Amino acid sequence: MAKHCEYLNNGITFHHKGITFCNTVWNAENSYIEYKGNVIKNFIEKRNKIISLMDNDGCIPYCTNCLYLKQVENSSIFHNKIKNIEIYHWNECNCACYYCSNRNVTKLKITNKKINGQISILKNLKELKKAGLLDDNLEIHTHGGEPTLLKEFGDIIKFAIKHKYPMTILSNGILYEKNIPKILSRMPESYLTISLDAGTRETYKKIKRVDKFYDVIKNVKRYISEIDDKFSYNLLMKYIILKGVNDNKEEIDKWIDICVSIGVKNFFPSIEFIYEINNHNNSINPNIIELYNYIKTKVKEINPKFRLSKYDFVEEKILKYQSYNIR
Ligand SMILES: C[S@@+](CC[C@H](N)C(=O)[O-])C[C@H]1O[C@@H](n2cnc3c(N)ncnc32)[C@H](O)[C@@H]1O
Ligand code: SF4
Ligand code: SF4
Repeated sequence: MAKHCEYLNNGITFHHKGITFCNTVWNAENSYIEYKGNVIKNFIEKRNKIISLMDNDGCIPYCTNCLYLKQVENSSIFHNKIKNIEIYHWNECNCACYYCSNRNVTKLKITNKKINGQISILKNLKELKKAGLLDDNLEIHTHGGEPTLLKEFGDIIKFAIKHKYPMTILSNGILYEKNIPKILSRMPESYLTISLDAGTRETYKKIKRVDKFYDVIKNVKRYISEIDDKFSYNLLMKYIILKGVNDNKEEIDKWIDICVSIGVKNFFPSIEFIYEINNHNNSINPNIIELYNYIKTKVKEINPKFRLSKYDFVEEKILKYQSYNIR
């Protein structure tokens, strides 16, 4: 028997606190390797030690009760190349969404300049590639912080295009990045999701605390005009339903209308998980579920060919999962 964790064996997160192979919020503190000296070498050494332990059915204390730790017959069927890279090595943003899951770190201060992360990710990606550690099916994700703020973001996308690594990008859409439509047009598994969360400038300002509603609309329109038509579904617009702010059908209707008017074809309804966990004992407020389902029905009524994000927060019981993460 052996133990196995796909994040440990196949993932890297470049977080602003350090580099890690761990995917758990409550444990990651134990696994961050500081951005000092040869970070990749240090990372690989630490990771390999833990993998060897797990190959022999051992385990380090902080992995013991992790939901990602699997008991397997034989670990040699798994390989240790990197299949997933999460990039998130900076902690500033150009807006201040009051719901931001990272708000304790950003302190909701607004940055208007492009920034450097803690290290050059591009340099490290090239090193990993040279060392033969990147799987051919590698995917690169930017799911934390605002990636378009990062000075080297365009070059990271160019690297991904060159090596045919798809990217999934989450952005607030305030800044336009010219390489995003290029990757979306060349790789069907690449996605851009933009959190607009409002159908009007006034509501947008309350949520994001910047007056950039029409900048985002302009940028999305431009992205759509530059993405190859057959991949236009790979741009998703997100609406996080926020209690007391945008939780009404009028705002949702306006959001859908403005999205449709600029050519959006894929819609991502979402819920504010931190509030829901803290206030509804790990179940979702029925009013939020009603609005969530309203978005799904309305989008399909407008055009049956429109799509909804594959990830369904309600059906996937994201709350239960997140509550485990956030505890
Ligand atoms: C931290 S953000 C980073 C990406 C980008 N800056 C953005 O806002 O889209 C990661 C994703 O989580 C979502 N998110 C952040 N805080 C959330 C919360 N409390 N509840 C639900 N979704 C949240 C954002 O909408 C975004 O899609
Ligand atoms: S704590 Fe969980 S996710 Fe992190 S390395 Fe251990 S088993 Fe993997
Ligand atoms: S845009 Fe994203 S990273 Fe920035 S404050 Fe909003 S949720 Fe947080």
